[in-house]
Amino acid sequence: MLRYKVDAGIAWLTLDNPPLNALSHALRVGIVEAIDRAESDPKVHAIVLIGNERAFSSGADIKEFAGGEFYADPFLPRAVDAIEAAHKPVIAAISGACMGGGLEVALGCHYRVALADSKIAFPEVKLGLIPGAGGTQRFPRLVGLETALNLIVAGSTVPAAMLKGSALFDAVVPGSLADAAREFARKLAEQGYPVRRVRDLKVEHPQAEAFLQFARTSVAAVARGMAAPLRALEAVAASLEPSFAQGIAVEQKIFAELIASTESQALRHAFFAERAASKVPGISEKTAQRKVTQVAVVGAGTMGSGIAMSFANAGIPVTLLEAKSEALDRGIAGIRKFYEGAAAKGKLKPEEATRRAGLITPSLEFSAAGKADLVIEAVFEDIEVKKAVFRELDRVAKRGAILATNTSTLDVDAIAAFTRRPGDVLGLHFFSPANVMRLLEVVNAKKTRPEVLATALSLARRIGKTAVVSGVCDGFIGNRMINPYFQQSLLMLEEGASPRQVDRAIEAFGFAMGPFRMSDLAGNDISWHIRKRHYAEHPRLRPMRIADRVCELGRFGQKTGAGWYRYEPGKRDAIPDPVVDKIIDEERRALDLAPRKFSDAEIVDRLVYALVNEGARILEEGIALRASDIDVVYLTGYGFPVMRGGPMFHASRTGLRTVLRRMREFAGNAHADPQFWTPARLLTQLAASGRGFDDAALPKPKPAAKAKAKAKSKMKTGQKRTRKEKRRG
Ligand SMILES: NC(=O)c1ccc[n+]([C@@H]2O[C@H](COP(=O)([O-])OP(=O)(O)OC[C@H]3O[C@@H](n4cnc5c(N)ncnc54)[C@H](O)[C@@H]3O)[C@@H](O)[C@H]2O)c1
Repeated sequence: MLRYKVDAGIAWLTLDNPPLNALSHALRVGIVEAIDRAESDPKVHAIVLIGNERAFSSGADIKEFAGGEFYADPFLPRAVDAIEAAHKPVIAAISGACMGGGLEVALGCHYRVALADSKIAFPEVKLGLIPGAGGTQRFPRLVGLETALNLIVAGSTVPAAMLKGSALFDAVVPGSLADAAREFARKLAEQGYPVRRVRDLKVEHPQAEAFLQFARTSVAAVARGMAAPLRALEAVAASLEPSFAQGIAVEQKIFAELIASTESQALRHAFFAERAASKVPGISEKTAQRKVTQVAVVGAGTMGSGIAMSFANAGIPVTLLEAKSEALDRGIAGIRKFYEGAAAKGKLKPEEATRRAGLITPSLEFSAAGKADLVIEAVFEDIEVKKAVFRELDRVAKRGAILATNTSTLDVDAIAAFTRRPGDVLGLHFFSPANVMRLLEVVNAKKTRPEVLATALSLARRIGKTAVVSGVCDGFIGNRMINPYFQQSLLMLEEGASPRQVDRAIEAFGFAMGPFRMSDLAGNDISWHIRKRHYAEHPRLRPMRIADRVCELGRFGQKTGAGWYRYEPGKRDAIPDPVVDKIIDEERRALDLAPRKFSDAEIVDRLVYALVNEGARILEEGIALRASDIDVVYLTGYGFPVMRGGPMFHASRTGLRTVLRRMREFAGNAHADPQFWTPARLLTQLAASGRGFDDAALPKPKPAAKAKAKAKSKMKTGQKRTRKEKRRG
């Protein structure tokens, strides 16, 4: 954990907890013991604390938050105090990441020498926390109140070179860090090895109160309901207190409150959930992978173009195939426009934009897919069209090529069966816009080979996507859950809510966008198309007349200037529209429903618990591998508020018994379909045993075929028509 060596009067304390020197309990023990050892060794005059190339230290070992080790003696603040209290000068030699607790360790040192490209940050707010080992007090003493506040509140990372002029660093150097530290120690020797402690400095600001007032307003505006940024501001402001001890007391109190908060627990859950999602049973680093250096995308529409850009952005050449030349020209023009726009806005260097656009080669010849290692199909959502494309791909693709479909709702097993190589087929479900959205559902079909899945997962990382594995079912994880969520939002319109009220309530809960604004953005025709297929497949399904009528008017959302709202040309503000109100009113009357008032709490609970119940079924069927995967899907793909950790985490923290009671209440509503609120077996079981989804031992994933059959039967029994509607025919 810590290597100790004395050389020419200097004790070298090398942090050795690869890869990033997380400050685990063992490492903290190592640091304090080494400081004591150096202090008591008469041959030592100065102490150098140094890390490895990748990191001085990336900060606390957040795995320790869950167990008791995080607070185990020496707790990080005590370790930092021990460094600062040393009577021999301690020099931090900083390279790579110097973040969070790692930066606090450096601030406890008496001097700091850094490589110019070291990365300096206090990322704690991103986990709903503040620096808790003196960072909020020592940092402003060195870089000033304003810089400290900006960096701590935003959690952003800056290179050491950017803070070069401040008192944070005694030297910012290129080249060899050890040599620079040795040279610095030599200079200290000339001065008699003085010790200088950050706690003894004062924070000066000519108009501190006015600045803080301004900062409070601006931070509140961007915090989006999160507590940590404003609490961080409060802690940094305490650095102006007359004594260091007073400031530290404020920091510790705030830290203790935040670490116990649901917000921080949710953010930490989200962090670990993303890491966990990449771990798939049966796939390890040892699983063989296929080489992917050339990709082909079939279909240059909305998705195909975005998918092609995702690969070009990662430097991977793509052939973009189309059936029609107009569609190809349109797709390529859209791609060019996107890159030119990015260059014009300064987001990309012009030569980089040109290089990326140049990696995409248009083609109208299917044979051009022949040299690709991976082909992704993104043609119309129609099984017959997919069949023709996969038959053709089976003919032209080289042996060992991976064949993927971007279908949102169709059966990937059936698509795989259109080829003579179903083991090479899987789903790669990108989200729109594909070049922007991080989420990628990787659909593991019945016959997908492990190496094909493993290749897809590592490819996702290469193109900067967060992959979540899903089994085969209608809509996979994300869209299957969004279905009941949309159904509830539509039912609430029938009962008395307005699109605006539903959107506002769920947005106040923290969703980036309510269901109606989201639908207007994605295009109402997409869900209409899916609804029509569902009506045809399941004749007993209850038609969603309001939504259908909105679409019958051609109101497909922003792209047509009107949907659930109307839009001024060139603007995205959703304006309530009397045309929609009239449709809602007429349908309510046809259903003989007197509108009633809705509380925001009912809107939120109905929407969120509709997600949760379907999520529980998805887990039960083995479609998702773990509850946290569902959370990742919703956090990265559907704008679920990260400070609530995802639907399954939120339900677990609310208490599954409470969730069930609320669902029973909803089922008792005269207009509800009680079938809709039948709780998933897993939900009932967990609630009965007082557990949450996150600590559930899940049943083993079932073979995809069984899961699929279950999903189908669920759809048949869901959303039956009310008696009244049956009368309407
Ligand atoms: N739009 C979304 O938000 C979204 C999100 C995720 C997944 N998807 C899925 O992605 C797929 C494509 O959706 P989209 O929105 O990009 O559709 P789109 O209509 O914008 O594009 C489809 C393109 O495929 C082309 N095409 C049709 N048949 C072809 C053939 N035989 N060979 C080559 N090209 C052909 C069409 O000319 C068209 O340009 C669908 O399966 C859809 O369900 C869509």
